Amino acid sequence: MAWDALWLNLSAATMLPGGAPYGLVADAALGIEGDRIAWIGPRRDLPGPPQALAHRVQDGGGFVLTPGLIDCHTHLVYGGNRAREFEMRLEGASYEAIARAGGGILSTVRATRELDEDALVAASLPRLDALLRDGVTTVEIKSGYGLETATELRQLRAARRLGALRPVDVRTSFLGAHAVPPEFAGRPDEYVALLCAEMLPRVAAEGLADAVDGFCERIAFTPAQIARLFATARRLGLPVKLHAEQLSDQGGAALAAECGALSADHLEYLSEHGAATMAHAGTVAVLLPGAFYVLRERQAPPVDRLRRLGVPIALASDCNPGSSPVCSLLTILNMGCTLFRLTPEEALAGVTRNAARALGLADRGVLAAGLRADAVLWRVAHPAELAYAIGLCPRGVTICAGGIVP
Ligand code: NIG
Ligand code: FE
Repeated sequence: MAWDALWLNLSAATMLPGGAPYGLVADAALGIEGDRIAWIGPRRDLPGPPQALAHRVQDGGGFVLTPGLIDCHTHLVYGGNRAREFEMRLEGASYEAIARAGGGILSTVRATRELDEDALVAASLPRLDALLRDGVTTVEIKSGYGLETATELRQLRAARRLGALRPVDVRTSFLGAHAVPPEFAGRPDEYVALLCAEMLPRVAAEGLADAVDGFCERIAFTPAQIARLFATARRLGLPVKLHAEQLSDQGGAALAAECGALSADHLEYLSEHGAATMAHAGTVAVLLPGAFYVLRERQAPPVDRLRRLGVPIALASDCNPGSSPVCSLLTILNMGCTLFRLTPEEALAGVTRNAARALGLADRGVLAAGLRADAVLWRVAHPAELAYAIGLCPRGVTICAGGIVP
């Protein structure tokens, strides 16, 4: 019995915790069989001579190998763009004021409702391709720009189709509770009732969502409304996550954690109580420095508090047309370090090990035998270089589910 491929001469940043920084293994070897990692460790421990172990032996050139990158929070399926709002913000309007005036998320809802599934896929592919250039092998994609059953379903179907068109694993989240749609202006409770009675059960019945997300904020939904949505999600057997404490402290993170959420995301205004509740529940803190940067926020998420309490930290692009038109996860690594003072090692764990956890995926995020063979070989000598440079993509080879990505 031989492996399909054996890579030699690697500096393997396994991202396994508790050992060397980055879980680094010098002069490492990686065996791949089918879509799994068959073996990884120091070359000297290989169970035989390379040629006898695998059909194909490849040279890693001494470069750094990491787990495939995981972007665990994106809204990359949408129509139109919001460059005009970018201009308005530069002229002094705030994100919140634009949203209250019917722009913001609702402006993208209007543009997204106009597109059929093919057009949505076509509009979204360049954004996905940009993420893949940076070594992304798993991407989460949310709905939330339909806010009515048909368009929400279409967004989720488009997201799934993207995963069939490109070598990447797409995980979908239903974000029907992203904003109150114009048809329900002033009647948010009635919209939440529709979400629970009709939209979410339909999404679940069609198997279109891997999780349920919401936006808990003054301009979106209250904790009580989110709690009703989460109760329905639980009844349907779907995990939950929440946009929480982005612009103000609504107590959303604690609510999410009490509901056993996989993650709470943004968290600029996270309180001590919110963080402690997350720590207790094992809820991942997904930080989104792209939105912090684009909206020129002043209050950074409480990273020291998260560290002190042992809350796992993930980083994601939040790729969306309003608050984070960012399609580069490597740039996000840099922003996580520069804006939030994460270490390059924490940043890399945020797009590998902890991002996998934020998606509830136990089969990836670190390099270990038996896990999915998702990995990236980078033309760098040390993993800190990935967070350090901006705009330079040193990606050499991406391996996704055991296959080399062309
Ligand atoms: O994660 N915070 C809410 N949702 C998105 C922004 C969506 C938009 O502005 O279109 C976010 O930042
Ligand atoms: Fe978001």
